[in-house]
Amino acid sequence: MRAFVVLSVVLASVSSVFAQTASAAAYATTEAPIAKAGVLANIGPSGSKSQGAKAGIVIASPSTSNPDYLYTWTRDSSLVFKALIDQYTSGIDTTLRGAIDNFFNAEKILQQVSNPSGTVSTGGLGEPKFNIDETAFTGAWGRPQRDGPALRATALITYANYLYSTGNTTFVSNTLWPVIKLDLDYAANNWNQTTFDLWEEVSSSSFFTTAVQHRSLREGATLATKLGVTSSASTYTSAASSLLCFLQSYWNPAGGYITANTGGGRSGKDANTVLTSIHTFDPAAGCDAVTFQPCSDKALSNLKVYVDSFRSIYGINSGIASNAAVATGRYPEDTYYNGNPWYLTTLAVAEQLYDALIVWNARGSLNVTSTSLAFFQQFSSSVTTGTYPSTSTTFTTLTSAVKTFADGFVAVVAKYTPSSGALSEQFDKSSGSQLSAADLTWSYAAALTAFEARNGTTFASWGAAGLTTSCSSSGSGSGGGSGSSGSVPVNFQETATTVYGENIFIVGSISPLGNWDPNSAIALSAANYPNWQVSISLPASTTFQYKYIRKYNGAVTWESDPNRSFTTPSSGSYNENDTWR
Ligand code: NOJ
Ligand code: NOJ
Repeated sequence: MRAFVVLSVVLASVSSVFAQTASAAAYATTEAPIAKAGVLANIGPSGSKSQGAKAGIVIASPSTSNPDYLYTWTRDSSLVFKALIDQYTSGIDTTLRGAIDNFFNAEKILQQVSNPSGTVSTGGLGEPKFNIDETAFTGAWGRPQRDGPALRATALITYANYLYSTGNTTFVSNTLWPVIKLDLDYAANNWNQTTFDLWEEVSSSSFFTTAVQHRSLREGATLATKLGVTSSASTYTSAASSLLCFLQSYWNPAGGYITANTGGGRSGKDANTVLTSIHTFDPAAGCDAVTFQPCSDKALSNLKVYVDSFRSIYGINSGIASNAAVATGRYPEDTYYNGNPWYLTTLAVAEQLYDALIVWNARGSLNVTSTSLAFFQQFSSSVTTGTYPSTSTTFTTLTSAVKTFADGFVAVVAKYTPSSGALSEQFDKSSGSQLSAADLTWSYAAALTAFEARNGTTFASWGAAGLTTSCSSSGSGSGGGSGSSGSVPVNFQETATTVYGENIFIVGSISPLGNWDPNSAIALSAANYPNWQVSISLPASTTFQYKYIRKYNGAVTWESDPNRSFTTPSSGSYNENDTWR
């Protein structure tokens, strides 16, 4: 009897943790002011939970142990302030000016703080986090993280463009620009360098980092031109062209998803890619796949593969239909706190889908390609490739299904939000209760931006419209123009042991190497087995990525990450000797 009483008390208290069985609409209404207050509470000097942070410093979370997040991360702070700057510059909240100026002044100070990554001129801008009194954090950490300067530049450029348009041009040129320029120069000079990813774990190249660097340099070039700094504008444009080529190489055509990191030994399915889509969304760019816009066929295919990777690994997702929303985490192999769903990643999926709906509705049509077919067939198994105008029943069927799907992710977050509305970093994959850092600033900001997208609110474009690549003809490093039109023979030799009937091919990021399509890969000869060999004529002075693959009975096996990289000589020929990995 006593045991029974105790058990029912426990059950009652567990169920009261999940007070919010609300619909997406109801949750957005009640949670939006809580999320906004949650963000502001974590900003110094007067935020109620900011615990002595200097003015303009964003703490990641007030949690001081398990984990200790009472630091300021450039990534978190910049993403949070981008959301606040969007609210200020679009007139949603005109009271934020003082907080934004504080943020600018704090970041200007942090740029100059010497730290374990270097000084302002020797790499220190890539330092991921600082103490909240604006001194360097000197403990061991995954550094550098090269997304930070780009994200900060994007936030500050949004502010600068607004002030410029209201006539405050001197302040923009004399005060904001020197700070923005440091971050953009860092991105332009270091885009090709190894970086820790946004989860601070893998040192390689990271899709999110490449994409946000690309974005910052595009909008940075436009601002530089406006301010008459033409040499910076051309430096940024040329680096951006290289970045856009490099960005294409993360696409995995066989898997239908974007490989998040070139290293790390994981599947590559990662919220990194969904966060990229929402943080590089440009409502003017339609559904362009070259910048992986939220409604692009590649980003939608990727979203499905990413979401599906969590269906069977989290207990709280069991029993949910295979085409309905589930809780998602950073990546399926995650072991941080045993690997759990995160609020900000589950909300990012919803936001990408809301962004897609904004564009389809604005354009009055929706395109289904062979790449996005599997995504759409989740909702209507009979749908075929084609363009569907908003007057068609297919458009109505698909957009309403996508809206329901998107709202489902918000409802999952609602279900695992306690009645207080507080958002931590993670929620337990089995019990759903909150885990890791409490009151994570980024979780609150993720809720705000998802709700805005749900309402159809859009913010300033960054210049993604109409971008194209010319990677195979000009090389990823040249940015086009200076025409070295010659080609050079490159002899590729790969040492690989195989079984009878198995063959080695080469595939890579440029068209002579099949643009990463295994069906267009070039076969090597086994005449000198186990040294496989082929000579291929390639454009001179061109940088590209490649890998060898095995084909056996129709199955393709890729070499492990990272991609191999190669730059052809300007003339002559070259022998490249590799060994299967
Ligand atoms: C702390 C980092 O912030 C987090 O992203 C990472 O997963 C853990 N350390 C474990 O490396
Ligand atoms: C760990 C996350 O992986 C990282 O992205 C974030 O910057 C820090 N926590 C702080 O929130």
